[in-house]
Amino acid sequence: MTLPIQNYALLSDEECDAKIVAAKQQLGQRCIILGHHYQRDSVFKHADITGDSLKLSREAGQSAAEYIVFCGVHFMAEVADILSRPEQIAILPDMAAGCSMADMANKINVQRCWQELAEILDVENQVTPITYINSSADLKAFCGAHEGIVCTSSNARKILDWSFAKREKVLFFPDQHLGRTTAYQMGIPLEQMVVWDFDKPLGGLTVAQIQQAKMILWKGYCSVHQVFTAQHIDDFLVRYPETKVIAHPEACFEVCEKADFIGSTETILKIVREAEPNTRWLVATELNLVNRLHNECKGQGKNVHFMATTLSMCSTMFRTDPQHLAWVLENLVAGFVVNPIKVNETEAVLAKKALEAMLSVA
Ligand code: 13P
Ligand code: SF4
Repeated sequence: MTLPIQNYALLSDEECDAKIVAAKQQLGQRCIILGHHYQRDSVFKHADITGDSLKLSREAGQSAAEYIVFCGVHFMAEVADILSRPEQIAILPDMAAGCSMADMANKINVQRCWQELAEILDVENQVTPITYINSSADLKAFCGAHEGIVCTSSNARKILDWSFAKREKVLFFPDQHLGRTTAYQMGIPLEQMVVWDFDKPLGGLTVAQIQQAKMILWKGYCSVHQVFTAQHIDDFLVRYPETKVIAHPEACFEVCEKADFIGSTETILKIVREAEPNTRWLVATELNLVNRLHNECKGQGKNVHFMATTLSMCSTMFRTDPQHLAWVLENLVAGFVVNPIKVNETEAVLAKKALEAMLSVA
């Protein structure tokens, strides 16, 4: 019988810490814990490897461990399952850890979009579907089935270059902001980008708009990154004009346009860590990452500030707590796998094709 989660719910974080450390010791090389940068400190400190989506996908594919415990969100554990060997098992400590942006595109509304586009365009020859890694496995499979590809926040530029070398248009889902900012940086004017509203027939667009568009952007976004505005930057620069601004590409176009640097979570950390001492940074990404970076860098006289005036945390990343981590690890020690993530075989093959295309391009 598996150990029930109820046994852990009332334990303090400190009690769970001790259990996690002991279980990790007993499991040794059989288990690896991957931790995304948005995890809360009490979970993040137990990760064997931390990183952004691209780094963690690569680690999942290269790990020799029997169990890959993914402290992140559901799509990340799916990628770990797809890229790992068949005998390895990916585990998500809390099944409720999803991604609200990923949920904005699904197989039904993406297939409907593709069919509607096919009435106007020769889709298979003119359009490359690109899914941001923040999407379910069936959408990665959709891209695999249509000679498309996956991208992450750190390789979107290379993936767009690859796509435009093959076909003249891109259907980019689910994050409109990553698609727009990256395409704009490549020199594609905003007039050649349209937003596909998945609630409306033909995406709410005219035939002429679709025909002239190079980028068809899904109307999806990350609610955590929506809170940052250009006004936040302007107000901050009035008080501290020396500030460097750095934004995750999920932030809106106006914020990215004003930023000195744009990058994935791993890139944000790298740039601020490598910056000169006594510099000031305004950062547009999730609060856990920014707080940790602030604490890490204050000894060098660096000031790292969160961009918004209200808090913005990823509530689904926050689902993973020390209680769930202790629960999955102690079950592994007792010989039980709880919360395995297994993508069905047909989808996994096609999704892997799109993921491997990404890994070979970037
Ligand atoms: P990174 O790949 O930059 O870590 O981003 C993942 C994510 O979900 C950001 O919201
Ligand atoms: Fe999804 Fe946004 Fe959370 Fe990233 S921060 S996992 S995009 S909801």
